[in-house]
Amino acid sequence: MSKTQVTMKVNGRAIDALVEPRTLLIHFLREELSLTGPHIGCDTSHCGACTVDLDGKSVKACTVFAIQANGAEVVTIEGIAAPDGTLHALQEGFREMHGLQCGFCTPGMITRAYRLLQENPSPTEGEIRAGISGNLCRCTGYQNIVKAIQYAAAKIAGVPFQEAAE
Ligand code: FES
Ligand code: FES
Repeated sequence: MSKTQVTMKVNGRAIDALVEPRTLLIHFLREELSLTGPHIGCDTSHCGACTVDLDGKSVKACTVFAIQANGAEVVTIEGIAAPDGTLHALQEGFREMHGLQCGFCTPGMITRAYRLLQENPSPTEGEIRAGISGNLCRCTGYQNIVKAIQYAAAKIAGVPFQEAAE
């Protein structure tokens, strides 16, 4: 099959590549760029494990062709921490609040929450739950994921994190 030239910025790095028009962005990221943080958890566009940031929006990378990202800026979980390795507040929140168990959903969940907190820096619990409703977790029951995102929102805002009474 003929290939098409694409250029994009992925985690700040300029990418220039030839892709088949049928190649999904998730396959391009994982197989061509070795960015295996975004996962493939379904073949029905339901799980959100493949979530990445595409030009300032959360997308499920299994629903986008790589050529549709031509000229775009993509952020994956590999691009969330600071260049010196300092964890993002969300990564710290997931660690501190036990926001993961098996971890399979975590890269997509954190990448989605990364955009959510830019759209809405101080979300209510309901807004967090609605905001991550496209991301499924089979392990945690979501409670600690919500706490992890609340922790990160507080840290980014520079205010102390107070766990809501259960
Ligand atoms: S792999 Fe499940 S939504 Fe993309
Ligand atoms: S931590 Fe296992 S699927 Fe979410």
